[in-house]
This record gives sequence, C-alpha cells and structure tokens, in this order.
Amino acid sequence: MPEQAEGVVADGRSAGEAREEVLRVEGLSVAFGRASERVALHDVSLSLRAGEVVALVGESGCGKSLTALSVMGLLPPEAHVLAGSITVCGKEIIGTPERLLRRYRGSAMGMIFQDAMVALNPLQAVGRQIDEALRIHTNLGRGQRRDKVIALLDAVGVPDPTNRLRQLPHQFSGGLRQRIMIAMALIGEPRLIIADEPTTALDVTIQAQILEVLKDVTQARGTAVLFITHDMGVVAEVADRVVVMYGGHVIESADVVETFSTPAHPYTDALLHSVPRTDSVRGVDLPAIPGSVPAPGAAPAGCPFHPRCSDATQECLTMPPLEQVLPDHDVACWHPHTSGRSR
Ligand SMILES: Nc1ncnc2c1ncn2[C@@H]1O[C@H](COP(=O)(O)OP(=O)(O)OP(=O)(O)O)[C@@H](O)[C@H]1O
Ligand SMILES: [Mg+2]
Repeated sequence: MPEQAEGVVADGRSAGEAREEVLRVEGLSVAFGRASERVALHDVSLSLRAGEVVALVGESGCGKSLTALSVMGLLPPEAHVLAGSITVCGKEIIGTPERLLRRYRGSAMGMIFQDAMVALNPLQAVGRQIDEALRIHTNLGRGQRRDKVIALLDAVGVPDPTNRLRQLPHQFSGGLRQRIMIAMALIGEPRLIIADEPTTALDVTIQAQILEVLKDVTQARGTAVLFITHDMGVVAEVADRVVVMYGGHVIESADVVETFSTPAHPYTDALLHSVPRTDSVRGVDLPAIPGSVPAPGAAPAGCPFHPRCSDATQECLTMPPLEQVLPDHDVACWHPHTSGRSR
C-alpha cells in the first residue's frame, strides 16, 4: 500500500472528514427451516461509505445474494433473521414494516439484478416503466418526466432514447437492458446501489461497457455501490474494497490492492489463484478450488473452509473471530497468510 501522511485516509481527505456511512450491517444472522436449523448467514458485518464501491465475492452459495436481499428487505418469506442490525443512511431495515421499506427502496437504496428481463415488465414500453418510477419518486409533471426519461437513458448510453422509449424490453439487447436497469435504479437518487452480478450474463466487451457506465453514473453522484460478483477481474476493475464470504461468514475484508497483493485468508488466496477452467459452460459455476461450499446447516464445526484448506489444524475446529491484521484489513483465520508482517 502506498505510504500516506498521518491522519489522511485513502482518498486524500483528512480522517476527520471521512465520508458519510451509507450502509452498516452488524452481526446479521439469517436461517431457513421451521426451527431455523439451517443457518445461511452467520454474524455478517460490513459497511459502505458514500462514493465507495465494495465488491462482495465468494463462490456460489456463500451468502452474497442473501446479504443483499437482507439489506433491501427482500428476503424470501421462508428466511428468518435471527440477529443483527442493518442501517441504510441511518434507517434500520430489520423489523421495519413493508410499507416503509417500499419507500426506502428506490429513494435510499436501489438494486440491479443479474437478469433485467426479470425486473422489467415485458409487456410495457421501457419509457413508460421509467416514467412510472419517476412518478412515484419525484414530483415532476408529465413533460418534465419525459425529458428526465430521455436524459436518464442518455446518461446510461442508450442510443436514440427519444425513439427507443416506446419499445418493449425484449426489443433491446441484454447490454442495453442492463443500462435501462441502471437508469431505473438511479431515479430516486439512492445513496446505495446493490448490483447483484449485473454483468455475469453478458459478453466480455459489453460487460466492460456496463461497468464503465455504472462507475461513471455512481461516481458523479457519490453513490455507494455494493457490487456482487464471482469474477475477480471485475473486482480489480471496479472495487475500492473487497469483502470475501464463505459458508455464510465474512472471512476477509480489505482494500482492493491489499486483497490482490497480500490476501490473508487461505480461501481468498485460493480464489485468486484458482485458474478458470477452460471447459466451463457459460453461466454454470464450476469449482476451481477442489471441494464445495457447504449448504446452510451442513457446515462442519469451526471454520467452514477447513475441510478444503491445506493450512487447517485442530484449532480450525473452532470458528476464528474476524480480526484486524492491518489497518482496515480484517480476517477470520487462525493461520492467516501474513508472512513478514506482525499481527
Ligand atoms: N429460499 C431459500 N431457501 C432455502 N435455502 C436458500 C434459499 N435461498 C438461498 N438459500 C441457500 O442459502 C445459501 C446462500 O445463498 P445465496 O443465494 O446468498 O448464495 P450466493 O452467494 O448469492 O450464490 P450465487 O453466487 O450462486 O448467486 C445457499 O446455500 C442457498 O442454497
Ligand atoms: Mg447470488
């Protein structure tokens, strides 16, 4: 990490004027089952400041989407929150009535899903859908809303927006639909956007364009972005900080440069060094680290990664706490890869 003057944080501001905290998740545990016997999220904590892009990574089934859905207040009815607190712009989400959550969604927080076709109404023109969202979130009149729809589509790079706003979602390519989703998520000018694998279904070149758009529009507004992805290449491109999940636990959290240069958890290390398999089918997540992520309720005692970890010892039969190994670098491991550094 580059050396910094004392009291100066990474973005050059003084520590005293650190940016406003937009999201704080603290001690969140979520379970499935009648007796909550299948715990899917264990004591998850993370936070985001205004303008920050945090990548949430981990293999399939690690609990990334459940974390995102918890923040949005959109957990499936069969999921139970066992403990914890989630605040978005200081407002508590857990236990808040749906009526209020609906108001927060869009104005305080917005979400971009992997598949825009699921989120858009297939039978309604795109311009109409954006207009409806504008009507809910703003006091603009009809003419002003039309101008705003065109401006929003233009901002996210939809060509010829005046004519295209009459078209139905299926008349747009996958990349353009994702741009429309970004435009819709921005309508209420939320302080937090959660993007759950927004580019996974797209071709590599289109992925890069979408990431660029998302970066541009969120940076211009100082929006905090929680970016969920499997793709470490995408992480390197977009993230300021990385939070790694495994088996429903946060097991590492660090600045993006440190995550790539000195990953402390053996799992993060393995994720970074796992070579993508050439026989992988697009959209199908094939394991590159031998073994698989335990399902909720089927995790071994202690650190859930220990059966797949070459560094595991008897100690790993107890779950290690998430502890700071360096400033702003936390890891939950009894044997972190911190060679040459003191704990
Ligand atoms: N409605 C549900 N009922 C039962 N189990 C569920 C449900 N939703 C998720 N799970 C389980 O919870 C665990 C975490 O799921 P989650 O969707 O958060 O994973 P993820 O990290 O987002 O994975 P992916 O990368 O595949 O999207 C998984 O084992 C999943 O099977
Ligand atoms: Mg997911």
